[in-house]
Amino acid sequence: MTNEQIQITNDRYRLGYHVMPKSGWINDPNGFCYFNEYYHIFYQHYPYSPEWGPMHWGHARSKDLVHWEDLPIALTPGSTEDKDGCFSGSAIVKDDTLYLFYTGHHYYGDNDPDHFWQNQNMAYSTDGVNFTKYENNPIIESEPEDNTHHFRDPKVWEDNGKYYMILGSQGKDGLGRVILYQSDNLKEWDYIGDIAKSESIEKEGFMWECPDFFSLNNKDILLCSPQGIKQQGKEYLNLFQTGYFLGHLNEEKTTFSHDRFIELDYGHDFYAAQTTTTPDGRRILIGWMAMWESPMPEKEDGWAGALTLPRELVLLDNHLYMKPVDELKELRTQTLDSGHIYLEEPTLLSKQSSHIEVNLEHKFEERKEITTSFELKDASNQLLLSLNYDNQTNEFELYRPDKDDSRFALISAKNTVELQIFIDKSSVEIFINGGEAVFTERYYTEDVPQVWINASDGVATNYDLYQLNEKAMQY
Ligand code: FRU
Repeated sequence: MTNEQIQITNDRYRLGYHVMPKSGWINDPNGFCYFNEYYHIFYQHYPYSPEWGPMHWGHARSKDLVHWEDLPIALTPGSTEDKDGCFSGSAIVKDDTLYLFYTGHHYYGDNDPDHFWQNQNMAYSTDGVNFTKYENNPIIESEPEDNTHHFRDPKVWEDNGKYYMILGSQGKDGLGRVILYQSDNLKEWDYIGDIAKSESIEKEGFMWECPDFFSLNNKDILLCSPQGIKQQGKEYLNLFQTGYFLGHLNEEKTTFSHDRFIELDYGHDFYAAQTTTTPDGRRILIGWMAMWESPMPEKEDGWAGALTLPRELVLLDNHLYMKPVDELKELRTQTLDSGHIYLEEPTLLSKQSSHIEVNLEHKFEERKEITTSFELKDASNQLLLSLNYDNQTNEFELYRPDKDDSRFALISAKNTVELQIFIDKSSVEIFINGGEAVFTERYYTEDVPQVWINASDGVATNYDLYQLNEKAMQY
């Protein structure tokens, strides 16, 4: 292992308006918060290679959720309490101080990667740039007795002058669960117990990572990333999932009664999402725009992974919508094209930029059976990805030729379907009907992608195309 930040050797897949590492590896977003007029996002990071390694916390901040500034690494592992990694966690702001909560990772040293233990730690900063690890770390020394060594990813929040921490974990019975601690001072924590638990490994997983908890429209929402859920028809097709349970945490905060687990994003590249609130009270989310064990061709160029665009969460009819935050309109540098067509044959919408927003509105006539498609192709007409919609089944299918497989989403029946699509140099985020369904995907070509749309029979279509800022993230 060397101690120098790895160099980027080729820019071909570098993104223009997403948070990504200066170089090296990135996974989960961490510590998402608003402090001293800046949004802060941290992330799991290994600066010395494009592979996962001893986890650091990388750091970026933004005044507007659009323009991001790279900051020095906030947490470096190697202290007694986080010897082999500063794993995922969260932040809260209290009395002009930004507090980070993170998991210390420790291997027993017998070269077995599964032979580890984890504790919980704190760090703080008053300038939002330089962080000091708390002198009396760890704040939670080890897992409770009814837990295995999977005990990580603290999410802390304040409610009525008390602090609560949930942790992703696994019970001794081998089932994923979320456990709760309580504190009056952020430093001493009492174990309350589990608040929610997997029904069975097949259905809900053996380990729940990266929990988050918040309320919208008087409903409580537990967000988490379970490992081990088995594929059920066209659901749960990724290696691991990120999704939510809608429910109610009782007054004593001992039980969270809830509905079934629902995936939040149907794409191949979405995991370990985390939320925060904006000063005007919106709940926004950022996820890791990749998936464990996916090949990530950018590794060849000295980096791997990125974070998604920030999305606002809105609860409508007991369904969590994820829509691009309004601020993202600031990414638009010019209107490239807009118009109205009667779509009935393959139509090339754009081939002028790798950083564009495509807004499409299809208006279906009643009783007419139609399929529509949106495709990205490289300069030699090779398909990079396609999105097909069937107005009879209301199903979207997202196909990735590089993986030779599809992902699916069902939407509610409507005569109008709206797509808002953000294309960056190697990513595509597709928001359907204001965020009712979302697909987050990576794609890889050195060409400027061609955007094609088509329909099996005539459909009235409005479109708007915007050039987006190619340098919204500054290093
Ligand atoms: C989720 C995760 C977390 C852990 C981190 C390690 O992707 O496995 O549970 O803290 O990544 O990098």
